[in-house]
Amino acid sequence: MSGIPKEKLQRATELRQILSYHSWHYHVQDEPEISDYEYDALFKELVALETEYPELLTPDSPTQKVGGAVLKSLPSREHSLRMYSLDNVFNTAEWVEYAQRSAKLLPGHMPGDLAFWVEPKMDGLALELIYEKGLFIAALTRGDGMSGEVVTENVRTIRNVPLRLRGENVPDLLEVRGEVVITREDFAALNEKQRQSNAKLFANPRNAAAGSVRQLNTSVTRSRPLRFIAYGIGLVEFPDDQPAPWKTQQEIFQALASYGFSVAPEAKLCATPQEVADYYGNLERIRPQLAFDIDGVVAKLSRLDWQEQLGFTSHAPRWAVAMKFPAEQAKTRLLDIAIQVGRTGVLTPLAVLEPVSVGGVLVSSATLHNEDELRAKDLRIGDLVIVQRAGDVIPEVVAALPEERTGSETIFHFPANCPVCGHKAHREPDEAAWRCLNKLCPAVRRQTVIHFVSKAGLDIQGIGEKWIVMLMDKEIIRTPADLFRLKKLDLLGLERMGGKLADNFLQALEKARTTSSLRRLICALGIRHVGEQTARNLAEKYCNLDELGAADVADLQQVDDIGPEVAASIVDFFADQGNRELLTQLKELGLWPESAAAGDNAQKAATVQGPLSGKTILFTGALSISRTEAKQLAEAAGAKVVSALSKSVDYLVIGEAAGSKLAKAQELGVTVLAEHSFQALLNQTGQMMAGQPAMQATAQVDASTDISEADITDASSAAKTAKSNLPKTGMQGSLFE
Ligand code: IVH
Repeated sequence: MSGIPKEKLQRATELRQILSYHSWHYHVQDEPEISDYEYDALFKELVALETEYPELLTPDSPTQKVGGAVLKSLPSREHSLRMYSLDNVFNTAEWVEYAQRSAKLLPGHMPGDLAFWVEPKMDGLALELIYEKGLFIAALTRGDGMSGEVVTENVRTIRNVPLRLRGENVPDLLEVRGEVVITREDFAALNEKQRQSNAKLFANPRNAAAGSVRQLNTSVTRSRPLRFIAYGIGLVEFPDDQPAPWKTQQEIFQALASYGFSVAPEAKLCATPQEVADYYGNLERIRPQLAFDIDGVVAKLSRLDWQEQLGFTSHAPRWAVAMKFPAEQAKTRLLDIAIQVGRTGVLTPLAVLEPVSVGGVLVSSATLHNEDELRAKDLRIGDLVIVQRAGDVIPEVVAALPEERTGSETIFHFPANCPVCGHKAHREPDEAAWRCLNKLCPAVRRQTVIHFVSKAGLDIQGIGEKWIVMLMDKEIIRTPADLFRLKKLDLLGLERMGGKLADNFLQALEKARTTSSLRRLICALGIRHVGEQTARNLAEKYCNLDELGAADVADLQQVDDIGPEVAASIVDFFADQGNRELLTQLKELGLWPESAAAGDNAQKAATVQGPLSGKTILFTGALSISRTEAKQLAEAAGAKVVSALSKSVDYLVIGEAAGSKLAKAQELGVTVLAEHSFQALLNQTGQMMAGQPAMQATAQVDASTDISEADITDASSAAKTAKSNLPKTGMQGSLFE
């Protein structure tokens, strides 16, 4: 380095240190101390120095994370110590057996004496990272456990992988084991990007993570939102043959964090097998809210001397076990693709599946969304497919397994005509959906009536899809209005309909006819683009359907939430001859609710004196209570609730999966509140809550998850998200986002 001026050498060393420090704060700690702009400026300065004096380049320079190399192959290499897999247990009873078996191997100890270090079992790709004298030198996949593929250059591009270990007491050799994962949010964005560029979609975050690491083109790896979460070690050698200082699994975990690795913040010490069982239950309960896919819990005997005593079987340690959750995905056969015709005439492809149990529920059909989705997934009839159910979500077909094809599978062509009435189907250039535009299509009419009585419509108790289908098939009714003309005798002719049931049926209809609100009726009509919230706003402005029907586009756009498209759709609805006929009949039948006078309600809300008087609020993401309830609470406290984010919004209240509004709020300087902070705001000032039961239920759920801040290495949850407003990075607390 003789030709390099001393101050340049010093500056390069300094820049490397500064950049590593900030990279760790940003990618591991999730607490950036400088702006992206400042970071970039420092980074560029280092790149310039290294370009001018290539000898300055060191392998741990942050500039080496940029990728670009194209490899010829991924050679394989032996692991110094075998990477074992884990035995599984599938429920608490099996866990208790495991703990009893383990205690027997530790003479003088009872199962209750056994403390375990527990961690989420991350569903990604297992890797081993090798550090010599603190410097990252290689990365291997798990492979068959004996040897794996060398993926060093790819792993170098992963943002939160340290190229040099931090801290004191760094071993001469450290093999770190962990999992490469992609958050669900990043995964959704990645697949969206794939879809837009007509590239193949990934079946799940695990496949995406594995495919991104096992890549020949390191630029591709770098473009993927990968994170490495460390959970263990392989071979370790300290200077002068010093033994490793760690006595417990917890100490290893803490050492890994201190060396600069991201670790799972939910990991904790359980003093007894019972505590492990509780942790397993709690983690399963909050699993849908976690940022990452996990497929269970890994419990590791805490004391390392006991680990040694228990040793390994031929394929797994006896000192650790995976406690698995029921799978949320399963493989099954796609038997057929059916087309469903919805209320608005949309033709939705539906997968007919060989029944399969997914997460404990039998699934025999799943939505395929629309033609574009079908194309993107390249599904063929006869394919083996992956089906997924997450939380309450309708099952969906995630992907086909083309490698399992036999050649007998058939390509599905989206029909050009409505499968029910045969009318030509139509697709607007800017829409994904094909529609049957025939207003008289029996499927459309049927769905219209089903919607009318459903929860999203008048919510008529006891009158569900089954009865409507029967009544329409027998041509006893044709329109929603016909329902209110039904006589007991009409009903008694139906299969399984007795006198008592018929009475209840008619009573429910009578109740709906006489007590339904204008808002519910607007919902029930199924006007395109008019959902719960818009119906509510409309009912606040117009006192009945005559008034609403007389409104023009300009008028309608005065209402909160209503833009040109929605206004046009409302005007179209009232202009339609068939709809007018229906409304005339409903009016004659006496189903013609009136709301409070125009504008009155809105004004009332604005003048309420309460803890939120004069404040403007916007809700985003999934709250624990309905939006309507949240709005009522806010309005009762004097706030104005709006639907678009702007500078004039005082509070953005976020639920789960808050999405892009969060980042925008930060840009605009809008205060972000987690749902519980919003509740606190209402409570603090003694606000009586209309949604009391729902709010209490939330509190119970929170309490029953039973994972307090003290249990988690780092405080987490929405509160933290709200505070930092940083959706983009970080592991700490992120599993609880
Ligand atoms: S410890 C010898 N801890 O699960 C014990 N494994 O089924 C080594 N995994 O291939 C495993 N999260 O990649 C451990 N917190 C965690 C884990 C974890 C995910 C994976 C691991 C391994 C597989 C075994």
